[in-house]
Amino acid sequence: MGKRYYIETYGCQMNFADSEVVASILNKSGLEVTSEIQNADLILVNTCSIRDNAEQRVWGRLDLFRSIKRKKSSVMIGVLGCMAERLKEQLLESDRGVDLVVGPDAYRDLPSLVNTVEEGHKAVNVLLSREETYADISPVRMESNGVSSFISIMRGCNNMCSYCVVPYTRGAERSRDPKSILGEAKELFDRGYREVTLLGQNVDSYYWSPNDSGDNHVTFPELLEMVASISPLLRVRFSTNHPKDFSNELLTVMARHHNICKHIHLPVQSGSSTTLSRMNRRYTREWYLERVNAIKNILPDCTISTDIIAGFCGESDEEHNETLSLMKEVEFDFAYMFKYSERPNTKAARHFKDDIPEEVKTSRLNEIIDLQNSLSASGKKKDIGKTYEVLVEGVAKKAIAGLTMTGRTSGNKVVVFESSDVRPGDYALVTIEKATSATLTGVLKEKTHKAKDKI
Ligand code: 5AD
Ligand code: SF4
Repeated sequence: MGKRYYIETYGCQMNFADSEVVASILNKSGLEVTSEIQNADLILVNTCSIRDNAEQRVWGRLDLFRSIKRKKSSVMIGVLGCMAERLKEQLLESDRGVDLVVGPDAYRDLPSLVNTVEEGHKAVNVLLSREETYADISPVRMESNGVSSFISIMRGCNNMCSYCVVPYTRGAERSRDPKSILGEAKELFDRGYREVTLLGQNVDSYYWSPNDSGDNHVTFPELLEMVASISPLLRVRFSTNHPKDFSNELLTVMARHHNICKHIHLPVQSGSSTTLSRMNRRYTREWYLERVNAIKNILPDCTISTDIIAGFCGESDEEHNETLSLMKEVEFDFAYMFKYSERPNTKAARHFKDDIPEEVKTSRLNEIIDLQNSLSASGKKKDIGKTYEVLVEGVAKKAIAGLTMTGRTSGNKVVVFESSDVRPGDYALVTIEKATSATLTGVLKEKTHKAKDKI
C-alpha cells in the first residue's frame, strides 16, 4: 500500500483551493489521502500568515504533530503555504519536527521533496514564480458538499497594501488561462455542481493575453460572462474585488445574467481617507461610496459585504468614527472584522508605529462588531415576506415534520427551511418568515429545478 498523507488547511478560500491542487499532485504520485491523522505517514498543514493569531493557531497544531511524531518517528511533517513562504528554514529550526517546507508556487515539486525527506534529509522549496497558475492540474475536491466549489483564476497580488503580507507570501499577480478555467467549471457542472466561486486576491485585475501584443485578451467581466454562459443553472460567484479597480462594466455583466450571484465582497478596510492613504489602498472614502452607489443603482438587489481593520497605525478616534459612519451609510449585509496585526517586513511595519494600544484596538473592534450585528439584523428583517430562489446545499438537521434543509440566496444569505422533498443541488423558491442576524428561516413555495443525478 502507498504512503498515506493527511492535510489540514487554514486561512482563506484560496488556501483551500490550493490544498485541492496539492491533493491532486500527491495522488498522482501514488500517495493516498487519509482523514485520520493517526494513520498518516505524512502530515501536511497549509498555513496562513495574514494575522499573528492565524500563525499562532498553526504553531499550536505543530505542537500536536510533534507529539504524534514522538510516538511514531517515521512520520513526516510538512508546512505549506504562506507561513512556509514567510518563515522558510526557520520552520526547520523550530524544534517542532518539521521535515518539509513548501511555498505556494512550489507544489509541483512536492513528490520529489517527499522523496528527499524519505531519504533522511530535510527539504525546502519556497521559490516564487511569475508564471505558475497550476492551470493544467485538476483539483481533487475535498470537504465538498457536491454543490458548490472554488476555482482559482489568478494567483499573487501586486497591490502592496501597507499592512498586508500577501504580496510577499504569494508573490506577483498572474492570471490563469481562461480555457482551463472554463474547462474546470464545465466539468464541475457536468458532475452535478451548481455553483462555482472564481477566486483571486483582486479579481478586477484579471487579465489574460495569449501573447505579448495583448490581442484577444480577456478581462474579468469577459471571463465572468463566459463562465456564466456555461448554463443558466450554474451559479457563479467571485471574490475578492478591489474598490480602486471595480468597474461599471462588471456590474452590467452581472445585471445581464440571472445566474451571476448578486453579491459583492468589496473590502473597505477603513472609512477614513487619511487612514486609507496610510494603508496604501489608493482610493478615498468618497470613491468607495461612489462605487457603492453604482452597485445600488445598477443592481438594486445586490448584497454587499466587506472587510474592516480596527486600530491601524496612527488611527485617531475621529478616523475610527469615520469607519462607523461609512458602515451606517453603506449598510453592509455582512463584514469580516479584524484588529490590526503588524506583519514583519510589510510597508506598515517598516514605516509606521503599531501605536494603538491593545485595549483601544479591542474596544474599537467591539464597536464595529456591535454596529455590524445590528446592520445585519435589520437588513435580514427586511427579507421577511420576500421569496428567494435558494440553491439547496445540504441538510441542516432532522426536524419532526421532515428535514431541515439549508441553502443560500443569490445574495449569499443562508436560508433554512423544512422539506423532505428537496435535495442538495435543487433550486427552490422559499418565502422568508423569520430572521436572526445570521440566518433566514422560510417555507418552501416550490421546487424550480431538480439536482442532476450524480455521475
Ligand atoms: N492585520 C489585520 N487584518 C489584516 N488583513 C490583511 N492584513 C491584515 C493585518 N495585518 C485583513 C484585510 C483583508 C483580509 C483578508 O484580512 O481586511 O481584506
Ligand atoms: Fe493584501 Fe491588499 Fe493584496 Fe488584498 S489587495 S491581498 S489586502 S495586498
